[in-house]
Amino acid sequence: MLSVVDLVKDFGGLHAVDGVSFEVGQGTITGLIGPNGAGKTTPFNMIAGAFSPTRGAIRFDGEDISSFPAHRTFRKGLVRTFQIPRPFGRLTVLENLMMVPPGQLGERFWNTWFRPAAVRAEERRLRDKAIDVLDFLNLTRLGEEEAGNLSGGQMKLLELGRALMSDPKMILLDEPGAGINPTLLGEIVERIAVLNDRGITFLIIEHNMDLVMTLCDPIIVMAGGKLLMQGSADQVQSDSRVLEAFLGGVVEEEGGVA
Ligand SMILES: Nc1ncnc2c1ncn2[C@@H]1O[C@H](COP(=O)(O)OP(=O)(O)OP(=O)(O)O)[C@@H](O)[C@H]1O
Ligand SMILES: [Mg+2]
Repeated sequence: MLSVVDLVKDFGGLHAVDGVSFEVGQGTITGLIGPNGAGKTTPFNMIAGAFSPTRGAIRFDGEDISSFPAHRTFRKGLVRTFQIPRPFGRLTVLENLMMVPPGQLGERFWNTWFRPAAVRAEERRLRDKAIDVLDFLNLTRLGEEEAGNLSGGQMKLLELGRALMSDPKMILLDEPGAGINPTLLGEIVERIAVLNDRGITFLIIEHNMDLVMTLCDPIIVMAGGKLLMQGSADQVQSDSRVLEAFLGGVVEEEGGVA
């Protein structure tokens, strides 16, 4: 569904991403792991159209999207969440969800003045959808809360909700488990699995190895801007190169990688 070929991103003299190729198969929950600074978020930024690649190609759903700006990848059904959630803090959770889809009728001057009924119908449709998304994420009780008051974990759920508003084919999640308590983490894992059953493909960057090993297959490992290996949870956990790459960082008590 998504493939990147020989992707390179330089920042000045730094090769943040250094010739990376991988594929994400339709219907999979693919994991992307690696130590801090390995170059995981940077491919997300290129895939989602925030940065253009220094070199390389990105294909999604049969089309070369390498030079697509963010709004075009979004319209093709490829959406991403941010490592640091960015809700509109003074808007309510419900309003945050309703802000998402591009090209809402009401935004256009012409429509507001000459097609007010159509604008109202569009707003009702959006609101109904936002209410469904809140219900799906078990956030209904927080619909009227200002988003700035949410906990870190609740903001992560809201991020997922914003992604869902666009009926995506594929969602890129950047550390959905970061800073989340175990209960909420379990909820996110379960919701991702349900969405995947409904046909949404996922590519997930994550440091929480419980989440990765439970949900993701295959798992892509990056280190130092390069692709280290790709395989199942078992293959990744028993690969000495992976252990070595993470040893420079943190090693979990139970001897796994963190
Ligand atoms: N906009 C930028 N300008 C300059 N350097 C950048 C920029 N974005 C990322 N980098 C650098 O590129 C390298 C890879 O960064 P990236 O954010 O992709 O890593 P990461 O694997 O997502 O790390 P983490 O696990 O800490 O989120 C790092 O050395 C980082 O400092
Ligand atoms: Mg990152």
